[in-house]
Amino acid sequence: MMEEKEEAEIKRICREVIERIRPDEEERKKVKAVAEHIIAELNKKASEMGIEAHAISVGSTARNTWISGEADIDVFIMFPESVSEEELKEKGLALAKSISDRYEERYASHPYIHAYFHDAEGKTEYEVDLVPCFSVKAASLLKSAVDRTPFHNEYIVKRISGLEEEVLLLKQFLKCRGIYGSEQRRKGFSGYLCELLIIRYSSFVELLRHASKWKYGERIDIEGRGTYKGEDPLIVIDPVDPNRNVAAAVSLDSFCMFIDAARDFLACPDASFFALAKEKAMTKAEFVELIKERGTELVMVLFEAPDVVEDVLFPQLRKAEASVKSMIERNGFTVYRSDVSVGGDKAFLVFELLVWRLPEVKRHVGPPVTLKHHSEQFKSKYKPFSFGKRIENGRYVVDVKREYTDAVELLRNELKSCGLGKQVSEAIDKGYEVLKNEEILFFEGLGSFFREFFGLN
Ligand code: UTP
Ligand code: MN
Ligand code: MN
Repeated sequence: MMEEKEEAEIKRICREVIERIRPDEEERKKVKAVAEHIIAELNKKASEMGIEAHAISVGSTARNTWISGEADIDVFIMFPESVSEEELKEKGLALAKSISDRYEERYASHPYIHAYFHDAEGKTEYEVDLVPCFSVKAASLLKSAVDRTPFHNEYIVKRISGLEEEVLLLKQFLKCRGIYGSEQRRKGFSGYLCELLIIRYSSFVELLRHASKWKYGERIDIEGRGTYKGEDPLIVIDPVDPNRNVAAAVSLDSFCMFIDAARDFLACPDASFFALAKEKAMTKAEFVELIKERGTELVMVLFEAPDVVEDVLFPQLRKAEASVKSMIERNGFTVYRSDVSVGGDKAFLVFELLVWRLPEVKRHVGPPVTLKHHSEQFKSKYKPFSFGKRIENGRYVVDVKREYTDAVELLRNELKSCGLGKQVSEAIDKGYEVLKNEEILFFEGLGSFFREFFGLN
């Protein structure tokens, strides 16, 4: 009886969420019309320019698996395999630019154009990825990193009909945990991975039931032809390329966050599992109060975000985080936790410190007294011992004056001496701020960031 009631409750919540996130007929028509317009324009321009290429619609807008209001239109421009990489890049980008009014050239592992297009009435603006690729014979014979995508599209289009709403539920569920997307920023579940998981388990709830029992190294092989040998938390064999793991980007923590959320939702189904963190963002007052209660110091290093794609920026921010953390600790302070992110046009590192102020005196251990030569060197170097000297366990120990007694001072003065990635280093050279606790300004997105940071779901 109890279980039946739970089942009905889950169904009711899912229906409610679907009504909210499923694009309505009007949105669907509009998105399709824009995609078709772009494809027609590209094909027309290609023949005008004498370029042998044709455009196809891929991604969630080609599969009816996009969340309402979040359509990004993905269009691939397919070139024959005989074309060189140079030519693909040159002609592909030229073609994409020729039909776009407003666009940015982007590079992650592959060059493409990120453009903005309006619908026929000019009311809604859509983000569009225009990606040149090679039309290869099989996904495993790829020439560039994105050549599998048309195969993914074909595989999903053939099998997803009737399951679109289940994919939407899964995407929204993951988004609300901050683990939707395979980008460096999230290290979570890509759209294609979501679609494969739904195809495998037929429904969102059935997927959750399985996920709640997943073990490290869980292997899902829909076609049963996998040859992938790597070790990852989650392995989902790519049906179009059996040697590839579609879930390779899913980090251990993202994998576990999904398992944990699946268990929680099945035990206590609630609509709040589908509410975005920004709808529950922390206010500055709550933040200041929480820091006071925790008794820690929250320090933020804030600077202008360099103009590179997130997949380049995030690894650099994490590298900066690690090297700044080790500088803080080298100076005697204690970092409890740290994280990085971007918000608006800013990038930032945050450090929660257990120890952020230290006394003047610092212990410095010298050589064993029995090492005559080293001892002499040491004694002459530390001649006017600033505080005192003694012998402990056979070694010289001197008390010296600490260079930095305040972690914020340290960061203000020594940040540039840390190993930072190229673009982050250039951005920091242009200027940065070090803020603590209530000095931190709550700009757009920071309230959701801290909510996640403190694990307040
Ligand atoms: P998306 O990231 O847009 O995902 O990539 P999606 O499946 O459409 O899901 P949402 O709803 O937008 O979040 C679309 C397809 O294009 C490929 C991806 O691999 C994916 O199959 N793609 C896109 C690339 O390979 N490279 C790119 O630069 C962009
Ligand atoms: Mn997309
Ligand atoms: Mn896209």
